[in-house]
Amino acid sequence: MIPAIHLRDARIGYGDTAVVQGVDLTVRSGEAVAVLGSNGSGKTTLARGLLGLAAVLGGEVEVLGAPVGRLRERGRVGYVPQRHTVSGAVPATVREVVGVGRLARLGSFRRLRPADRAAVADAVAAVGLADRLCDPVASLSGGQQRRVLVARALAAEPELLVMDEPTAGVDAASQDALAAVLADVSATGTTLLVITHETGPLAGVLTRAVVVDHGRIGYDGPLAGAGAGAGGHHHPEDTGEPPRGGYRIDQPRVTTDGGR
Ligand SMILES: Nc1ncnc2c1ncn2[C@@H]1O[C@H](COP(=O)(O)OP(=O)(O)OP(=O)(O)O)[C@@H](O)[C@H]1O
Ligand SMILES: [Mg+2]
Repeated sequence: MIPAIHLRDARIGYGDTAVVQGVDLTVRSGEAVAVLGSNGSGKTTLARGLLGLAAVLGGEVEVLGAPVGRLRERGRVGYVPQRHTVSGAVPATVREVVGVGRLARLGSFRRLRPADRAAVADAVAAVGLADRLCDPVASLSGGQQRRVLVARALAAEPELLVMDEPTAGVDAASQDALAAVLADVSATGTTLLVITHETGPLAGVLTRAVVVDHGRIGYDGPLAGAGAGAGGHHHPEDTGEPPRGGYRIDQPRVTTDGGR
């Protein structure tokens, strides 16, 4: 089977400066992968490279079997960017912004049919914003706007879903709801690549971890082992259950649980 993501000795960056280099990474179709690492390590750059938003400076970067930028149908890859500006020039409603995600799947010159409208409503409901469907996005809080962007990506029903810190600034109840949604999406075979600092809420969904360290991959293995792999972080109260509080797995030197 064609891997969802395939990088070989990849160099990705901006202009002619590589931020990410020497990266070998293969994600099989249907895998659910966490991308961890400290601030500035290159996680977003790696994700943007997969989307054609950062420059591939060398090596191979293939997404869904095609070199980056050559994939014909945009809707096959969903992306939730880290920065959450839902472009504010036009006063768009939640329904309209999420509808744009659905249109990406349909291609140009198509209109939303009843089934598409249902998919949009389902995606909005999945992120817990059903009652805000007709509200202007600008009237939503920051965390709610993040959830709109998640819904926009979900509405396209992509084969590969790349999410850059989807739970940042999102409250605990909504993080749990998002985890449930991602579990469903994963169960249907969608490949997940989720950049996060807090694996707690998503630990049941994401099984493999890739830790980015200074632009290189420092660990690639089971999510459960990522803490140890990145420097030996261990909770004495470890029960084998995923830690619900979401400790910062990328900062193993922090030995006290920050209570998050
Ligand atoms: N558009 C850009 N142009 C030039 N350099 C950039 C650009 N975006 C990021 N960088 C640089 O690339 C490096 C990695 O940034 P990146 O955003 O990939 O890190 P990150 O791992 O996602 O960090 P965080 O956890 O803070 O989101 C940083 O040194 C940053 O300054
Ligand atoms: Mg980032």
